[in-house]
Amino acid sequence: MALEGTTSPMQAIGVEVAGLTKRYGSVLALDHVSFDVKAGELFALLGPNGAGKTTLLHILCTILSPDEGTARIAGADVVRNPLRARRRLGVVFQEPSLDDRLTLYENLEFHGLVYGVPAALRRQRIDEMLAVVELSEWRDRLVRTLSVGMKRRLEIARALVHDSRVLFLDEPTVGLDAQSRARIWRYLHQLRLQRQLTLIVTTHYIEEVEQADRVAVIDGGKLLALDSPGSLKLAHGHEVLEVTPLDGAVENELLEKFAMNIVRTQDGVMTIRVDGPDFVENFLARYGSRIRSMSRKEPSLESVFLSLTGRTIRDQGSTARDRTLAFGKQGGEHTR
Ligand SMILES: Nc1ncnc2c1ncn2[C@@H]1O[C@H](COP(=O)(O)OP(=O)(O)O)[C@@H](O)[C@H]1O
Ligand SMILES: [Mg+2]
Repeated sequence: MALEGTTSPMQAIGVEVAGLTKRYGSVLALDHVSFDVKAGELFALLGPNGAGKTTLLHILCTILSPDEGTARIAGADVVRNPLRARRRLGVVFQEPSLDDRLTLYENLEFHGLVYGVPAALRRQRIDEMLAVVELSEWRDRLVRTLSVGMKRRLEIARALVHDSRVLFLDEPTVGLDAQSRARIWRYLHQLRLQRQLTLIVTTHYIEEVEQADRVAVIDGGKLLALDSPGSLKLAHGHEVLEVTPLDGAVENELLEKFAMNIVRTQDGVMTIRVDGPDFVENFLARYGSRIRSMSRKEPSLESVFLSLTGRTIRDQGSTARDRTLAFGKQGGEHTR
């Protein structure tokens, strides 16, 4: 194993994925997925539950073998040279993987030992990383006393105790409140600059991928589109109207008339896809007097996802709350 810390100056490194395919029995979890991630990029993998995101990440992190295809981290093939690939990557798994019975420091120390980080560098990195994620004062606490958000922060710190240049995060903000989510993103942006990291993040939160350099939209194991958020909106997005009906009768009528165009209904506000040049004019002529308010919104990534897959990403959200947001008061069929 090459000595850690001898590869200065720090250089961001990329990832190459070609034809990755994975089956679990009869389930085709990944279907010939190919893409490159450039060095230093913030790359988002966006897809609903069951899209294949975790499967893809596990292959890239060398803990799962593909049935077909290849993947390389900084040139190191994840199947033929997993140890070399592993030394350059850090990972924050979807499922918590800390040892609850150890302290924060001990968790990081153990990780550093496993990766062969020399003692002096190990201590320095652990101190540095605990400071970045604002957990220094908790270093000697048992991990089981931490909140969910603090554990996630510790997992980010752990992934960077060794000399990783590519950081994989599998739905790092799921289950966290808005404040904790923002905090995690603040650390990631900071670390990206400090450590010249290449960041690959999976999520089913559309609002989180706006800040990515590029977004890969994945569904049913297939890569459906890959581009910057702006280009995806230009190519696949469409405008929507956010409409508040006067009463339940109007709402029901809209649900029926625009069944194919309704993106979602949430807190009494209906999001309706603008369909053709005269759509808004016609809509106003017909419903203008029976709605409380209406606003027109530029194409969003949500509308990109809808165009590409024919449904909203939250139709298959992972939590009960996501499903409530998707369906609101209406039945599931209307959102399709
Ligand atoms: N260990 C497994 N055994 C069988 N099927 C699996 C296994 N892991 C995932 N799958 C299936 O593969 C598909 C992709 O799953 P996954 O990669 O976890 O997607 P995501 O992370 O996007 O939710 C899903 O249909 C899922 O049910
Ligand atoms: Mg997953």
